[in-house]
Amino acid sequence: MIVKSLQLADFRNYDFLDIHFNENTNILYGNNAQGKTNILEALYICVTTKSHRGGKDKEMIRFGKEEAHIKVTLEKKGIPRKIDIHLKNHKSKGIAIDGIPIKKSSELLGLLNIVFFSPEDLSIIKNGPAERRKFMDVELCQLNNIYFYNFSQYQKVLNQRNNLLKQLTREPYLMDTLEIWDKQLMEHGSIMIEERETFIIKLNDIIKEIHKKLTGGKEQIEILYEKNTTKEQFEENLNKKRDSDLKSLTTQTGPHRDDMAFMVNGIDIRKYGSQGQQRTVALSLKLAEIQLVKSIIKDTPILLLDDVMSELDHDRKNYLLESIKDIQTMITCTGLDEFINGRLNIDKVFQVTEGTVTEKNLT
Ligand SMILES: Nc1ncnc2c1ncn2[C@@H]1O[C@H](COP(=O)(O)OP(=O)(O)OP(=O)(O)O)[C@@H](O)[C@H]1O
Ligand SMILES: [Mg+2]
Repeated sequence: MIVKSLQLADFRNYDFLDIHFNENTNILYGNNAQGKTNILEALYICVTTKSHRGGKDKEMIRFGKEEAHIKVTLEKKGIPRKIDIHLKNHKSKGIAIDGIPIKKSSELLGLLNIVFFSPEDLSIIKNGPAERRKFMDVELCQLNNIYFYNFSQYQKVLNQRNNLLKQLTREPYLMDTLEIWDKQLMEHGSIMIEERETFIIKLNDIIKEIHKKLTGGKEQIEILYEKNTTKEQFEENLNKKRDSDLKSLTTQTGPHRDDMAFMVNGIDIRKYGSQGQQRTVALSLKLAEIQLVKSIIKDTPILLLDDVMSELDHDRKNYLLESIKDIQTMITCTGLDEFINGRLNIDKVFQVTEGTVTEKNLT
């Protein structure tokens, strides 16, 4: 798929923007704080309806304005498609696909597929489990409607259960209602566990080959899915932890406590890997993500590289650039030096300055 154009009105530091992308490699360069990441963010919202930075919708509306608009035109399997997002200060956002408003934001999922790569992704191995779960969730929600539904329900049930745990300290007679939440937690949680299992199996198939190549055959990788509980023991574990949950006022059983382990030549590199090893695995993971998305959607996703080029050494950078030749890519950077004489074919260059974007000639 290809993103043809992006229009913004009163989004972040843009009062108005109309940008037309090349179908191959696009570079957005400029000094810090000029609006490069804001452009990638606007594209990302069209995937999940939320910002990759987290935060509230109204934070994305230009200071002092009441609303913001994002319009994206794309081409998917040869067919032109259009996404409109209307952010409002005091109301929930409006979304339209091909000019027709949608009722649930889940209807947008799957229309545009993006792989986002930022310097923080390079720390996914050494960071805490929450980041690794987020990796699974973001991917699965984009690619799998069943997962998205059960994940959303699970979050709600988990919140309700945690609220009830607090309420029970004041109103112990409500104890019976805990079982209702436990049932729903198991219902949605079990499907999440199943889908994560399948996801990790597929990811392993792909990452093994990539990581071997990336390390010149020196390193063998395996990702392990570290479940907090199996489906079969979910009920038993919930019951076992019930007293402790009532004391700690949190739910300690369920896939919201899962993790992934990265084993390199049999060693858990979350704990024992060198920094370089951890970053190489993180890069392999991103490259595997691209392949996985490709194989599932039977199309190419859009790749957004936010400031990562300067973070990678020469070999890894070249490997990345070699692997993304057939994918439309938007790259942000502060200078163009690193691309000159590189192995990258640049097709369009834009300079970003204080919320305005100018296309530059390549000569
Ligand atoms: N709601 C908003 N209204 C107006 N300006 C905003 C809003 N939100 C963020 N900004 C501004 O947008 C500017 C550009 O942000 P952006 O993250 O796109 O910069 P960048 O070009 O990617 O910089 P860097 O190279 O440092 O990553 C920031 O200076 C920020 O203050
Ligand atoms: Mg930035």
